[in-house]
Parts: sequence; C-alpha cells; structure tokens
Amino acid sequence: MTLLEILEKKKKKNSLTEEEIRFWIEGMGKGLFPDYQISALLMAIVLNGMDEEETFYLTDAMLHSGETIDLSSIEGIKVDKHSTGGVGDKVTLILAPLLASFGLKVAKMSGRGLGHTGGTIDKLESIPGYQVELDRESFIKQVNEIGVSVISQSGNLVPADKKLYALRDVTATVDSIPLIASSIMSKKLASGADFLFIDVKVGNGALMKNLEDAKKLAQTMIQIGNRYGKKTVCILTNMEEPLGYAIGNALEVEEAIHTLQGTGPEDVMELIIKITGLIVSKTQDISCEEAEQQCFKKFNTGAAYQKFEEMVKRQGGDLSRLEISNRIFSVRSAKAGYVTKINALGLGEIARKIGAGRLTKEDKIHYQVGLLLHKKVGDFVEVNEELVKVYLDDKDIKVNDILDCFTIEEEPTQKEPLIYEIID
Ligand code: URA
Repeated sequence: MTLLEILEKKKKKNSLTEEEIRFWIEGMGKGLFPDYQISALLMAIVLNGMDEEETFYLTDAMLHSGETIDLSSIEGIKVDKHSTGGVGDKVTLILAPLLASFGLKVAKMSGRGLGHTGGTIDKLESIPGYQVELDRESFIKQVNEIGVSVISQSGNLVPADKKLYALRDVTATVDSIPLIASSIMSKKLASGADFLFIDVKVGNGALMKNLEDAKKLAQTMIQIGNRYGKKTVCILTNMEEPLGYAIGNALEVEEAIHTLQGTGPEDVMELIIKITGLIVSKTQDISCEEAEQQCFKKFNTGAAYQKFEEMVKRQGGDLSRLEISNRIFSVRSAKAGYVTKINALGLGEIARKIGAGRLTKEDKIHYQVGLLLHKKVGDFVEVNEELVKVYLDDKDIKVNDILDCFTIEEEPTQKEPLIYEIID
C-alpha cells in the first residue's frame, strides 16, 4: 500500500478502509510521507468527504497517534469545552475560570489559531510570562488545587492532529466536517474529561456557514462521543458577526477580563451565562436557571475574575504587563444608517493579515494588534462616526477593506438569535 494509492482512491470518491486510514496516520507519525501528499489527501477529503465509518476510524487513528491523559487523580467532575472557532471567540478564557468557581474541574488543553479564527493559546500567550506548556504533574496539581488550568495541547497528545492542523491552516483544507469532527474529538477524547461541551459556531465568520452543516457536524461529534461512551453536548451559536467587540489576542484578553467582572459585551455575557447554566446543571444538582443566576453572583463578588487571575499567576503570567499597540487608526463610517450586517470572516482575515493570526506555518503572532469594533449589528451610526479602531504594528490596512465588511442601511433588520439550538 502507498499513500499515493490512497490519494487516488479518495480522489475517485471511494471510501477508505480502516487499514488505509491507519496506514496514513501511522506512517505520517513516522515521517514517511511528504507534506505535499498529505496536503493533497486533505484536499481530496475536503472535496469528496468521508462517511461515518471513515470519520470514526480517522478519529480513532488520530486518538492513538500519541499519549492520552489520565485525569483520574483529579478529584471531582472534569469538564471540557471546545469551540469550532470563530472571530472574537474568547469564550474559553472566561468560561474555564467561571466553571472552576462553581467547583467543577477544568483541565483544558487548547489550540492555536486556525485559518481566520483565533486560538485560545495565542490569546493566553499575549499575557507576558504566561506558560502554555506545563508538565503533566504540575498541570494536574494546579487543577486539583485551584480547579483550572489552560495549557496548549502537548506535543505527544494527538500529534497527528498537530501535524494535520498546521497543514490545513495553510492549504485551504480547514472546512470539512470529517476533518473538523476527527480533529476535535480525537483531542477531546485523549484529554480525559468526564463531560464534553462543544460550541459549534454557525455563520460567515465560522467554519460552518449554515445551520444544516453545523447540525451535521454536531451530530457527527456526538456519534463519535457515543461510540466511546463519552457524554457530549453541542450548542449551535451565531457567528454571523464577531463575538463581542474585540478581535485580536491581547484585545480579547482585555474583553474577557471585563466579562469576568460582569461588564462584558451583551452577546458575550449572554453566551457565557447560557453555556455555564447548561454545563453546571448537567453536572451538578442544580437547575439551569439557578446556575445562570449564580453566574451574576460570581461576577459581582469577584469570584470569577479571581479564578482567572489565580490561573494566570500560577502559570507565570503578569496581567499588569498586558499590552495593546499604541499605533492606532480609526475607521469612520462614510454614511449614516443602521448596521445590518458585519462580515466576520472579512474582519477575521484583516486581523490575520495585520499579524493577529498566521498566514504561513512559520509566522509569528503580533499579540498587541487587532480590531476593536465600535458598532454591532442593529446599532445606528452617524456619518464620520467611528466604526472600528485598528491597532497596528508593522503592517497597514486599507480602510475600504474594513468599510466593505459593514453593511449600513436606512432601516434596521431583525437580528438573528445568538443561540440556535442545543443538541445532545
Ligand atoms: N477546531 C479544531 O480543533 N479542529 C478543527 O479542525 C477545527 C476547529
């Protein structure tokens, strides 16, 4: 068997066998295949898909490509959350400490940015000193002691995903249901939590552009979870416009801090409270409404923010040194009217180009750059009023590229709901 034969088979829309999928993933782990063949296979999968069995075998082969984590020495209920990725999605930064303040255990391994979407680890690394790599013992000790740690996926945890993720990011092969489902579920299954919660983003700023595909992805992940006996719940949420106002690493950390203090943007607060209510009520003896109410207490008493501060400090981070660029440019509206649409994908790409994300595998992130929206869908804007503040480093922007991301009309439109559906 050769990878070329497998590639031919997928090109002709045939299903791959378990043996062929294991040959690919195991051989890749041994460095037997060149990146161009792996990338071509990824593209064939994007174009021709994979059925349920292939997706399961791919997940399983990836899951066993490295070590798995045993969290049994952590006392209490271990919860894990994942997002399929969006623009301005800083939910993990807020949710992880908030859940810990409810007594749940969050031993979380997160990823870097993928395509136009940001990654939690890049965001955390914008905090000077924050160590995203902890040895296993320190990770478990920290979760036992303070309830939460967010680190990067270690080199040995699903190394197959690490390799594929980096290739997919730069070969336009991100948006495929079997590739996304196997990537997410292999990591989540290897990470050892008792309960998985997945936020499937839907809309132009997300990997899933419509509800139908998002449902398919959610069902695929739940099916995989069921085959391993792992309780998996998905929430489908709106990513037609960016989440919150901030896009870019350090800017998003700042917005996450405001949310933990109870003063975050309305949409971020709504989403956090809903997800927390669901997770807490499914894992503890408390109703969803009660858990939602308790979130406000955690914000108002400072309990949620203190958990975040504690986590950052334990991992060496210094929040007093969080920096936003001082090379600032204001983009102003050319006309008056209601903002009826914001192109989240377009803004995500602009943020990526000015350095908030990567265009090649080797690119270094500029943590201090990004975009801060001043208007969201439904808001009225005057002529010449500020729409976006852009924080730049060594790259420039074209004002029209940003203006083109905003649709401004005389009449307001009906806003889409933030939360579409919960599937379990
Ligand atoms: N998140 C992941 O971890 N993997 C994907 O493929 C997409 C989003």
